Amino acid sequence: MTALSDDVRGHREWLLGLLELPSAGVVVDLGCGRGDDLRRLATRHLDGDVRLIGLDASAESIEAARAAATDPRLDFACVDLGQRLPFADGSIDVVYSHNLLECLGDPCTFASEVARVLRPHGQAVIGHWDWDSQLFDATDRALVRRLVHAYADWQQAWMDHADGWMGRRLWGVFNAAERFRGVVHARVLVNTTYAAPWFGHANAQAFRALVRRGLADADDVERFAHEQAELDRRGAYFYSITGFAFVGRRIEADR
Ligand SMILES: C[S@@+](CC[C@H](N)C(=O)[O-])C[C@H]1O[C@@H](n2cnc3c(N)ncnc32)[C@H](O)[C@@H]1O
Repeated sequence: MTALSDDVRGHREWLLGLLELPSAGVVVDLGCGRGDDLRRLATRHLDGDVRLIGLDASAESIEAARAAATDPRLDFACVDLGQRLPFADGSIDVVYSHNLLECLGDPCTFASEVARVLRPHGQAVIGHWDWDSQLFDATDRALVRRLVHAYADWQQAWMDHADGWMGRRLWGVFNAAERFRGVVHARVLVNTTYAAPWFGHANAQAFRALVRRGLADADDVERFAHEQAELDRRGAYFYSITGFAFVGRRIEADR
């Protein structure tokens, strides 16, 4: 399983804890990456007559997910989730997805597709970081804002599309589909240590990738990193990011 730092693992456990898994049925993870979350679920539901299906556009990730899958209830396939989902209407009990939606050009069509494939009262748990919610303390507020905004707006090479505000948009996307009854939950991940492998430190290292792409100034990034390390030495470092989750049930009938 891909090693997650304790802070990120804690967040992932919170998200997975929002799932209400049936004792029998079909659970799908859309944008499953290497299938880590589905494997975690499989180990918790050893007795369940549940099929766990992971879909992702990355052939490399799906290959890794298949190689790591020892539970026969796990199944993985390479699928572009910007298209019609490859499931019949009302055939899925639970849809789970984490950090996929920012990559899709048309998240509203995705929400309609999730509603189409879910059975009535089936559950959707859609989680997402809001990348622009990252807080770092620093002397130069404008500098922090520049770096965080640049990072949130960065379309990385593997993305067809990028929307760093997807966390705050989950409600608008899923509630406006008028096919779910749900709520949005939020959880704040906090770090008070500036060191590997903590999430804030890892994301701050990624600011250097912004410099290589001409999206941030090298002096800004080094000045920022220097002060974060200094804050850490004084016991004054603070980082947080908010993760959101839309948790809803498919309403019975289409309106
Ligand atoms: C940030 S990763 C999240 C992976 C996993 N859900 C997790 O939380 O660790 C986003 C995933 O979405 C996949 N993805 C991006 N665009 C996609 C698309 N159009 N169709 C299917 N998968 C896509 C990527 O390949 C990647 O595995």
